[in-house]
Amino acid sequence: MIETKDLVVKFGSKTVLDGVNFRAAAGEIVTLMGGSGCGKSTLLRALMKLINATSGQIFIDGERVDDLSETKMNEVRKKMGMVFQEGALFDSMNVRENVAFPLRRHTRMKEKEIREIVRERLEAVGLKGVEENRPDQLSGGMRRRVAIARALALSPRALLYDEPTAGLDPLLTATVSDLIMRMRDRYGTTSIVVTHDIDAASRISDRIAMIHEGRILTEGKLDELERCGHPHIGAFLNAMRPGGAIGGN
Ligand SMILES: Nc1ncnc2c1ncn2[C@@H]1O[C@H](COP(=O)(O)OP(=O)(O)O)[C@@H](O)[C@H]1O
Ligand SMILES: [Mg+2]
Repeated sequence: MIETKDLVVKFGSKTVLDGVNFRAAAGEIVTLMGGSGCGKSTLLRALMKLINATSGQIFIDGERVDDLSETKMNEVRKKMGMVFQEGALFDSMNVRENVAFPLRRHTRMKEKEIREIVRERLEAVGLKGVEENRPDQLSGGMRRRVAIARALALSPRALLYDEPTAGLDPLLTATVSDLIMRMRDRYGTTSIVVTHDIDAASRISDRIAMIHEGRILTEGKLDELERCGHPHIGAFLNAMRPGGAIGGN
């Protein structure tokens, strides 16, 4: 469903992604882990072509997209939903208009149909009766779920989640994790999830890919990463465990 070959992204003279070979099969849940600033968000943005690759190739659903025109890429983007790191909801719009936004932008659906889809997507993320609220009137967990509902609006084949559980308490983290798995079970959605939450990652994902120094250092199940013997991976996993430098929030 999603594949990169030798993907390089540079910002000026700074090389952020330095030959990333990544793939996610249809229906797979893959988590991306790695230190802050290692390029996780950059990889997600490059997949959506929100930023341009410096070199290398990107394939979405079998189609090469890195050299596509913006018009053609817009068609591909309809197959992909992205939940941005900070939710990125429009604070001037109520919840209904936020979720309806991709439908108004990319389709010619009638108002009645849009309302029906908005209601259905909000229900899928466990939200009811908040359509009229503005995002700043909701809790962090609710906003995150609205962002997921909006990413689901066009029934994408793939969903990219940038730290969807950051700052959420354990209960909401579990809710969002369950939601990611439910989307896979219900719609066969391919998911790429950036997270620092090692428990959530090992629970929901088929595979964890560790990014380090611009590349995928290793990937596999949590126990395979633990056994790989790479000093950086060991240190990283330890730091993220409860009581470690990063984990245990
Ligand atoms: N648009 C941009 N212009 C210049 N530098 C950027 C841009 N986006 C990200 N970077 C830099 O690229 C590096 C990786 O950023 P990012 O992908 O956001 O890291 P992560 O999500 O893994 O924490 C950082 O050093 C960041 O400052
Ligand atoms: Mg990031």
